[in-house]
Amino acid sequence: MRFFMCRSFLTFRAIGVLLAGLAALSGDAQLPASQLNPPDSASTLRQAASRSGLLIGTAVRPSLFSEAAYSTALAREFNMVEAEDAMKWWVLRHDPDSFDFEEADAVVRFAQAHAMKVRGHCLVWDHNHPEWLARGHFTPSQLSQLLHDHIDRVMKRYAGQVFAWDVVNEATDEKGKLRDSIWYNQPGIGLADHGTAYLEQAFRWAREADPHALLFYNEAEGEMLNRKSSAIYEMLKDFKRRGVPIDGVGLQLHVASLEIDPAALAANIARLTALGLAVHITELDVSLPVNSEGLARPDDLLRQSQVYREVVHACLQNPGCTAIQTWGFTDKYSWIGWHSHGARGRALLFDKAYEKKPAYDAVLQELSAGRNSAK
Ligand code: XIL
Repeated sequence: MRFFMCRSFLTFRAIGVLLAGLAALSGDAQLPASQLNPPDSASTLRQAASRSGLLIGTAVRPSLFSEAAYSTALAREFNMVEAEDAMKWWVLRHDPDSFDFEEADAVVRFAQAHAMKVRGHCLVWDHNHPEWLARGHFTPSQLSQLLHDHIDRVMKRYAGQVFAWDVVNEATDEKGKLRDSIWYNQPGIGLADHGTAYLEQAFRWAREADPHALLFYNEAEGEMLNRKSSAIYEMLKDFKRRGVPIDGVGLQLHVASLEIDPAALAANIARLTALGLAVHITELDVSLPVNSEGLARPDDLLRQSQVYREVVHACLQNPGCTAIQTWGFTDKYSWIGWHSHGARGRALLFDKAYEKKPAYDAVLQELSAGRNSAK
């Protein structure tokens, strides 16, 4: 490997020198140095992304850190991690009175050991609640107290270590209307008839708990231009206008189609960043139909690489899009299998044996091309 890298490095240099010589001979000596002598090509996602000042991250499961292939690829390829589940209520809160930070701490430790940033996920969501919370029949004032304490304790524990939090996850339905939820109106934290007020309260508590963390609203299926993304845009615009403390928006991007509309994605990113919000792509995966052996069609793997390429390109073209994160990185471990009852899979950048897929090559190429590449 080392030998190969040295050779390609030398070849690259040699071509650069040759081109410079040819340019001088043809009188074209004013070609920019970068074209004559392009920077050495990056060999990992992490290297390529860092050169553009971009964060490239993935969701992780701390129980897998002991698997050498998993942790090696993770540390080599990414400069950011997010706990797939370890910072959710059902992992942190086994009962109303205590917190179990063991798994979450392991994520933070891994990140620190490998100079990676940590995104926090998530403080307010209506899924994956522990039984005691879901069936506890709490009053609004008890729920308000529980949520405030939770945000405060968790964010303070990781202050200075988690740089950005998904404060609120998936609060709207496919039409962009607020979903019924324990925190909103079932029975809610006391703001049930006040629209987005319960979300705003959560953002205010979050800002108080850790004034330095970036605060995000994270959403699914509102990435392109549609009714939902427009409703989210209007809600965030209203938040900005009224000074609700929010810094960014997470576009999940669980893609289940092999054709996306990259112009619509770019336009949505553009209108969100124009509000002064950072955009993070937070949960990117592109799932494929699989047969009974879990295999995808070779053609689909190529089309999948094109979708990954288009998403990365759309983010890179907007300076306000500052992070791209995939929801896991190896097809060996992905939520897609159980989520689709086995009908879909192969959604990530590495296969089950940690081999790089065409999607990996496409992402590396786009990241290497950097922020100003033309399409
Ligand atoms: C999923 C995890 O991948 C699973 O392990 C867990 O059982 C359920 O949640 N949107 C989100 C993520 O914001 O938190 C979800 O993660 C996937 C959909």
